[in-house]
Amino acid sequence: MRTTVTQIKEMKASGEKIAMLTAYDYFTAQLLDRAGIPLILVGDSLGMVVLGYETTIPVTMEDMLHHSRAVVRGTEQALVIGDMPFMTYHVSIEDAMRNAARFIQEAGCQAVKLEGGVVVADRVRRIVESGIPVMGHIGLTPQSVNQLGGHKLQGRAPGAAAKILEDARALEDAGVFAIVMESVPAPLAALVTERSGVPTIGIGAGAGCDGQVQVIADLFGLNPDFLPRHAKRYATVSETMTGAVEQYMAEVKSGAFPTKKNCFTMDESLLAEFRTE
Ligand code: KIV
Repeated sequence: MRTTVTQIKEMKASGEKIAMLTAYDYFTAQLLDRAGIPLILVGDSLGMVVLGYETTIPVTMEDMLHHSRAVVRGTEQALVIGDMPFMTYHVSIEDAMRNAARFIQEAGCQAVKLEGGVVVADRVRRIVESGIPVMGHIGLTPQSVNQLGGHKLQGRAPGAAAKILEDARALEDAGVFAIVMESVPAPLAALVTERSGVPTIGIGAGAGCDGQVQVIADLFGLNPDFLPRHAKRYATVSETMTGAVEQYMAEVKSGAFPTKKNCFTMDESLLAEFRTE
């Protein structure tokens, strides 16, 4: 049985912390699912983590659906959330509903996430009313990176903290089942969490949130050259992978790979015919 949005909301009520991770492919999703993670986000961080873009802005619906399908195929118990990419929910409510439905119908996700608070509350409400669970995302909203002037901490400037509180309230009123808060001062995130009836999931928002989300590449240590301040490296998989590639190349060169164990035999008498030709 997959985790449900009701169970996620109950976790806030009972004080059980919620762990969420991103995944973009079948094998990683399978690994997270088997480890028991309740929430997997197919984030549009796909753009940077997998596709090599500098921001999330170039990511398309087709990119997201392609990777969401793979993640859904790799999971049995996690609730999979598809991240709606830039400009797929801004133009009109109809557009937002149609694109949200594609994540559910075509990719098999159980929920969608979109960025923004007060300004997207009308479409969040309609998507939820049509039966699709929505996760909100406030604070640093990377799809607005050009407007925000970079991937910067939000909520410290005068008026900015009030905006974050208003955004959270608007999303809760519109029916979200949870809210991601990104790059927000910890005391402000804790206050939003205290006032919110739905779980808050923080990334760079401190320990006072109801849960935490991390980008899987940061957790695994896939990029040896970069780790955001809000992230913690739980493994250094890049070193293991580089080591494996170097050893493989050396063994191909030396003939140490493949061994008999990696090869297939055939009836010698059949070969003998060719050998005498
Ligand atoms: O795209 C993403 O990975 C996200 C998380 C950082 C919350 O939105």
